[in-house]
Amino acid sequence: MQDRAPWMPDHPQGSAVSSHPPRACPTWEEARALAREMLAGDGTRWPHVRTAGFVATRVTTLFNDDDAALLLAAATLHDIGYAKRIAQTGFHPLDGALFLQSEGFPARLAGLVAHHSQAAITAPLRGVDDLAERFPREQSLLVDALVYADMHSAPDGRLVGTEWRLADIARRHPGSHQDARAELLRASIRRIDAAIHADPDASARAEGLTQAEG
Ligand SMILES: [Fe+2]
Repeated sequence: MQDRAPWMPDHPQGSAVSSHPPRACPTWEEARALAREMLAGDGTRWPHVRTAGFVATRVTTLFNDDDAALLLAAATLHDIGYAKRIAQTGFHPLDGALFLQSEGFPARLAGLVAHHSQAAITAPLRGVDDLAERFPREQSLLVDALVYADMHSAPDGRLVGTEWRLADIARRHPGSHQDARAELLRASIRRIDAAIHADPDASARAEGLTQAEG
């Protein structure tokens, strides 16, 4: 009898050292199963990442197949570091990335999770001064698409506009650093919006999200 799913941590106490053989980027279904398993008991984290994954499906036509799969996995797993069973540092982007690394998932996936939604700005405030040394920071339209997915999903999983989401973050986490973070997040949204408008398929698929801006 198997008493744990294959994606469950081998070492619940956590370690930065990969202990699992390398494995491919999880499919969206695999990522959803993992996120649901890890976050279902933690308030509305699962609905939040489930919606982020859904939003990501609206913009996959902007990417090749490999990057589209990476985006769906990253959007669905970006907050997995909130799962109590894998908490190491208390900084959820880093904890999520360490978990994915230890499970043998691709380095790009771990890096996207480590740096999602400008985590580098808040990391020093949470006692994490070496985020970029631990996980390389990618700068790409894929990063912008991950911001787009996260910023359209409210903490409770409702589909919301990005300005609503940014205002909610500022309300819940006040501090001058949030102004700088919000500007960088807006820059990501502008870049992905421009890419959507230049792509008829993405424009059609993102139509409902545009309405959520209202
Ligand atoms: Fe999130």
